[in-house]
Amino acid sequence: MIARNGIFITLEGIDGAGKSTHLAWLTQHLQQRYAEVVVSREPGGTPLGEKLRHLLLACPMHRETEALLMFAARREHLDQVIMPAIQRGACVISDRFVDASYAYQCGGRGLDEDKMKALEHWTVQDVYPDLTLLFDVSIAVAQHRLAANRELDRFEQEEREFFERVRNAYLERAACFPRRIRVIDAERPVSIIQEELEKTIASI
Ligand SMILES: Nc1ncnc2c1ncn2[C@@H]1O[C@H](COP(=O)(O)OP(=O)(O)O)[C@@H](O)[C@H]1O
Ligand SMILES: [Mg+2]
Repeated sequence: MIARNGIFITLEGIDGAGKSTHLAWLTQHLQQRYAEVVVSREPGGTPLGEKLRHLLLACPMHRETEALLMFAARREHLDQVIMPAIQRGACVISDRFVDASYAYQCGGRGLDEDKMKALEHWTVQDVYPDLTLLFDVSIAVAQHRLAANRELDRFEQEEREFFERVRNAYLERAACFPRRIRVIDAERPVSIIQEELEKTIASI
C-alpha cells in the first residue's frame, strides 16, 4: 500500500467522447482546490511511455504485444508520475488508464480476460483511481465528431463494430465498479456536462 495523500482521477471513453475537451476545464477547476494538479495521459505520460505510445498508435502488431506494451508504459507511468504525485499530495488527472485496456484490449481486440487480469494485478496493484469519469457516447456521435477533427490513428481507424465492443466493455466495467466509475452521458452540450462534473468533483 502506498500512502495516498493526493487524489487520482481518470478520464475514459471511446475516441471522440470528449475526454480532451473536459480535461482542460477539469484541470482549471481542480487547480482551485489543489495546490498541485498533474495532468497526464495513457499510453504515455513518461519519456519511455510516449515512445511506446508512438509505436502503439502507428505500428500493426499482435493483440497481446499491444496489451504488453500498454502495460509496460503503464508500469513506468505509475512509477515515475502517478505514485510519486499521489504520495506528495497532488491531484493527478490521467486521460485514460487501466479501464481503457479492459475496453480496448479485451472488448475491442478480444484479448483473454484472465491475461488482462494478471497484467492488471501485476502492474496496477492497489493504485486504482479514486474517481473515473466515463464519457459515454454512441458510436455515430463519436465518429461524426472525429471526422470533423483530424487525421486518425491506428485505433481511431477501426471499424464501427470495434467501437461498439469497446463502448460495451467500458459500460460493463462501470457496472462492476459502480462506486469508482461514474458514467457521464457525453452527448449533451459541453456546458451541461460541466455542471454535472462540478457536482461530481464536489462530492469526492
Ligand atoms: N459534448 C460535446 N458536444 C459537442 N461536441 C463535443 C462535445 N464534446 C466534445 N466535442 C467535440 O468532439 C471532438 C472530439 O472531442 P475530444 O475531446 O477530442 O474527444 P476524445 O479526447 O475523447 O477523443 C472535438 O472536436 C470536441 O470539440
Ligand atoms: Mg483526446
